[in-house]
Amino acid sequence: MPRWFPRFHSRRTKQTAEKIRGLIRQLTEARVAEIAAGTAPDDLATKIMTTADPQTGKVFGTEDMIDQVAIFFLAGHETSASALGWALYMLAMYPDVQDRVAAEAMTLDDPLEFTAMGKLKFTRDVFRETLRLYPPVPMMVRENTCPETFRGRDVAKGAQIVLSPWHLQRHERIWDWPDEFDPDRWQGEAAKTSARDAFLPFSAGPRVCPGAGFAMVEGPLLLALLIQKFCFATVAGRVPVPVAHLTVRAKDGIWMDVSLRRSP
Ligand code: HEM
Repeated sequence: MPRWFPRFHSRRTKQTAEKIRGLIRQLTEARVAEIAAGTAPDDLATKIMTTADPQTGKVFGTEDMIDQVAIFFLAGHETSASALGWALYMLAMYPDVQDRVAAEAMTLDDPLEFTAMGKLKFTRDVFRETLRLYPPVPMMVRENTCPETFRGRDVAKGAQIVLSPWHLQRHERIWDWPDEFDPDRWQGEAAKTSARDAFLPFSAGPRVCPGAGFAMVEGPLLLALLIQKFCFATVAGRVPVPVAHLTVRAKDGIWMDVSLRRSP
C-alpha cells in the first residue's frame, strides 16, 4: 500500500483521540453550565455557543462544540508547528537572515504590545517565504460542482480536484528563482504579482483558513521571541527530508543545534 493510503487507526491513536476529546468535553460542559447559570464570560466561545444558525434557528449542542474545538485544535497546532519548524531550519541554514531577524527581535518591548507586529516586517517576510517553500498543507482536495474545462480538458461534475500549493508556490513560470529562500523577494513587485496568482498556503475562497490572520501574527511573533533568546544552527549530516503526512513534516525530524543567544 502506498504511504498515503488511509488505514484503520491503531488502538493507541484511538486512545489518544479519546483523551483529547475528553479534555475538550470537560471544558465544553463547564462552559455550557456557566452559560445556563448566566456566569459565562462574554468571549468567542460563549458567542459561538449561544448564536443561533440563521437558517435552522439551532445552536451548537455539546457534541457539535466538541467537534468544532477539536478541528481548531488540530488545524491550528499542527500547521503552525510545521511552519515554525521549517522557518527555524531556514534561519539555521541562512545565518545572515537569522541575524536580521535577531536585530528586529531585539527592538521588541517587554511586556509585549500588539504594536510589536509593526516592528517585525522582515520576520514576517521570513515566515511568508517559509510558507511559500514549505506550505504546511501541501495539497487540498475539492469536488467539482458543475462541468468545467481546465486547460482544454473536460472536468466532470463530481470530479475530485487536487490543488497543490507546494507545486504552485515553486512554479518556475510564476516565481523568480522558485527554489531559493529569499525573504527580501516579498518587498519586490514581482513577488506581489506571483503571490496574487500563486500563493495559497491558507487556501482561498469560502473555505479559506479562518485562522490565517491569527497564524500570521502568531508565527512571526514566536519566531522573533525564539530568536531573541536562542541561536539555531544546522547539524552536520542531518538534512531534513520533507514528507507529506497530514502536514509537511520532516522524515526523521528537523535537527538543529540550539544555544543561548548572547546579548549584543
Ligand atoms: C501557518 C498556519 C496555518 C496554515 C498554513 C493553515 C492552512 C489551512 C488550509 C490550507 C486550510 C484549508 C484546508 C482545506 O480546505 O482542505 C485550512 C483550514 C482551516 N484552518 Fe488553517 N492554517 C493555519 C493555521 C490555523 C490556525 C492558527 C487556526 C485556528 C486558530 C486554523 C483553523 C482552521 C480551520 C478551522 C480550518 C477549516 C475551515 C473550513 O473548512 O471551513 N488554521 N487551514
